[in-house]
Amino acid sequence: MNAHNKPNTPILDSYWMPFTANRQFKAAPRLLTSAEGMHYTSIDGRRILDGTAGLWCVNAGHGRRQIAAAVERQLSTMDYAPSFQMGHPIAFDFAERLAEIAPGGPDARLDRIFFTGSGSESVDTALKIALAYQRSIGQGTRTRLIGRERGYHGVGFGGISVGGIVNNRRVFPQLQGSDHLRHTHDLAKNAFVRGQPEHGAELADDLERLVALHGAETIAACIVEPVAGSTGVLIPPKGYLERLRTICDRHGILLIFDEVITGFGRLGATFATDYFGVTPDIVTTAKGLTNGAIPMGAVFASRKVHDALMHGPEGQIELFHGYTYSGHPAACAAGIATLDIYRDEGLMTRAAELQEDWHEAMHSLKGLPSVVDIRTIGLIAGIELSPRDGAPGARAYDVFVDCFEKGLMIRVTGDIIAFSPPLIVERQQIAEIVSILGDALKRVK
Ligand SMILES: Cc1ncc(COP(=O)(O)O)c(C=O)c1O
Repeated sequence: MNAHNKPNTPILDSYWMPFTANRQFKAAPRLLTSAEGMHYTSIDGRRILDGTAGLWCVNAGHGRRQIAAAVERQLSTMDYAPSFQMGHPIAFDFAERLAEIAPGGPDARLDRIFFTGSGSESVDTALKIALAYQRSIGQGTRTRLIGRERGYHGVGFGGISVGGIVNNRRVFPQLQGSDHLRHTHDLAKNAFVRGQPEHGAELADDLERLVALHGAETIAACIVEPVAGSTGVLIPPKGYLERLRTICDRHGILLIFDEVITGFGRLGATFATDYFGVTPDIVTTAKGLTNGAIPMGAVFASRKVHDALMHGPEGQIELFHGYTYSGHPAACAAGIATLDIYRDEGLMTRAAELQEDWHEAMHSLKGLPSVVDIRTIGLIAGIELSPRDGAPGARAYDVFVDCFEKGLMIRVTGDIIAFSPPLIVERQQIAEIVSILGDALKRVK
């Protein structure tokens, strides 16, 4: 029997859950057992509308047979093959397919692709590529990596070092020399904005200050999320990303966009790089790469960066880095099937079609109790609540539980609610999201 003496509930003791209050969860578990289209089904048989594409990854919706069939076919043909000094066609095929849609289009030449197993691995890979690049062009003193406050770049030591979330860093040592730009969130100037806020481009000048403080010759790269997701949807002010690009160019600093959540259609263009028209040197991806079906990440490196490392004797390994599961055949099969679906169903631009209705629906929640900001871009929304006195995060958590009980999955960080539904969402489901959340906001004090 399980801890709750309820039929079907598994024994919960052994699984140490990630980013979860384990004891609280196990006392009142929320368990999902199946998923189809826009919905999960909970263990007690309730349909839950997916307002978050799982964790920002199931962009084409759940239960896609085409992906399952491709993975099944690949697993029964060749389950696994190593990628060190050895290869298999499907990894090359997938890389070519990705190169065709690479961030920034053909002119950006961000079409050299390194496979990883997750977003965190993509970030650490990108940081290492940046360091290796600087060394290879004779800039070996450039070892410093710059991130941003409130950035989330996964949980590897590289990612938490450039990340800017105190709880992810508090008890872990970080890479020496990493430093941070200020975040761009400014409620006093930018509340209730649709799309990019007007104020804050000058915050990019923080990079100039760090150059002045540390010396450009110590800085290898600067990494930012074009739209920060995990810390509650922080949308870049107009002109901000352009300014970062200019400063990076001026000082020989590589610019890395972490597109783990913005990649694959979230903003209405294939990548945020395309949406904002600012081209970085390296782009990290994961999540939507395989529709979340099989864990996988991919790093897009520019030719400039890649080619700089293709020197030395031909028999020499150019980058001492890689994972057992880099280019895993089943993940590549899932990825190719996913790209087919995105193309055939026009999903890379669907967020653009829905954007106006999305803005409208989400901003209709303005005026409800505790709502201090609503911000929207592409098919993303952040709804910020005022915290309860002395209990930050508690109000949004209660809203999360209330919504789950009423059949809607939302995501909360601190007192911010984030939405990122699958890109197949219908207008009537957007209305349903607003209705369930609106009721929850009225109920939860
Ligand atoms: C911007 C960004 N980078 C990196 C990651 C880490 O990805 P993963 O959880 O697959 O390691 C995430 C995950 O949410 C993310 O949002």
